[in-house]
Amino acid sequence: MNFDKNRFQTETVTLNGETVRFRSWRNLSYVDRPVNPEFQQMNIFAPEDYFEGKSINGYRLATAPVFMPNTVGGYMPGMLNQPGCTHFGPARPNSIFCALQHGYVVAAPAIRGRTQKDESGKFTGKAPACIVDYKAAVRYLHYFAADLPGDENKIITNGTSAGGALSALMGACGNHPDYEPYLKALGAADAGDEIFAASCYCPITNLDHADMAYEWQFLHVNDYHRRHMKLNEGGRPSFTPVDADMTPLQIKTSAEEAAMFPAYVNSLQLKDHAGSPLVLDRNGEGSFKEYVKQIVLASAQRAIDNGLDVSDKKWLTVKNNKAVAMDFAGYVKDITRMKTAPAFDDLTMNSPENNLFGSETTDCRHFTAYSSQNSLADGSLAESGVVKLLNPMYYIEDEKAVTAKHWRIRHGECDRDTSLAISAMLTVKLQNNGARVDYHAPWDTPHSGDYDLEELFAWIDSICK
Ligand code: DHB
Repeated sequence: MNFDKNRFQTETVTLNGETVRFRSWRNLSYVDRPVNPEFQQMNIFAPEDYFEGKSINGYRLATAPVFMPNTVGGYMPGMLNQPGCTHFGPARPNSIFCALQHGYVVAAPAIRGRTQKDESGKFTGKAPACIVDYKAAVRYLHYFAADLPGDENKIITNGTSAGGALSALMGACGNHPDYEPYLKALGAADAGDEIFAASCYCPITNLDHADMAYEWQFLHVNDYHRRHMKLNEGGRPSFTPVDADMTPLQIKTSAEEAAMFPAYVNSLQLKDHAGSPLVLDRNGEGSFKEYVKQIVLASAQRAIDNGLDVSDKKWLTVKNNKAVAMDFAGYVKDITRMKTAPAFDDLTMNSPENNLFGSETTDCRHFTAYSSQNSLADGSLAESGVVKLLNPMYYIEDEKAVTAKHWRIRHGECDRDTSLAISAMLTVKLQNNGARVDYHAPWDTPHSGDYDLEELFAWIDSICK
């Protein structure tokens, strides 16, 4: 592990008629004792203008924020990335390209994921590998800050879905000693891993409570709709729609999971802006539910203000161009259920999360008491200490953690990969502990990210300048 500022390349990338010139430092190992060298490395990019004494958007070489996106999805390995086009959805310039254009320095790490093995067949990317790698990459940035481009006190992590969850973890648990043994074992740099701000798109987080949150939201919606991915002969993904009904066991599970959610929400002792408690009664009704409804209403309101027609949403009441009320059950039925119960800790251990919580020698494990007790696969239970390491909720009020002051969380209004309650609880817990959170559920937006980079960058500028 080292950094030689003189070993760079000057590169040019043109997309859609727009060109960025930048310096690159590629394939930097961010630990001394990697277990998977190909993935424990990072690329760093900086606008070339800065080396010619110019400024961009008011930033200079030493003051530019360091944008740090990850490419993790599905808790799979996150590939090393570079300025170019997005890999998923419609091809558009990716966040790295746009960030350089905007004047940010970009640090883009690869990160280990749940499917990786070493030569002896031992799994090397199970939890907590993903968060340990992200932290190690940040430690590298702090350690070599004097030689690196940009202001390493202004690191902003960014990710979507599982990657959004990792960004949230980075924001929540900076420098926490729980991660120290893992970082030491890898030979991470002797520096802090705190960050300035976290940008999180639809974080698939709080995994040990995501099942109950999902069933609280989708209770009584017993049909599910998703797309099953298969790779065709050319290796490209193809999707087949799956429309089916939950089995009697899944319906029973749904009710049992939903029944556990109020006690969890109430245990968090969340408070709204006015200091009033956000709670649920045993039927899942109460001020926390009203709070989640307000998130959806705020989403609809922004859509209306932007001139969108929302009249097809029969669950929404609009009066004088104001979204004034909603029928939660109607909303949930309309966006539809994607996952069967339990949504994350699958009783047959077939979910990405079961795979994430495997061990060096076991591919999949349970990570909640409920699913472990009701396992249909005779599965074992991951250590509670490891489950904790993947959940930012445990660290936000922990004095031993440095929690970022600035957060931007986006969770699409019709996202069905996890409950809206998950990002709502994260947001309120952060706010209750003094963090500033710019939170919104963009209208008619499914599980996705990086769709509003201009607004994201405006937010970054607002907190950095
Ligand atoms: C992702 C999506 C999921 O539904 C999930 O359970 C885990 C990860 C993702 O897109 O990263």
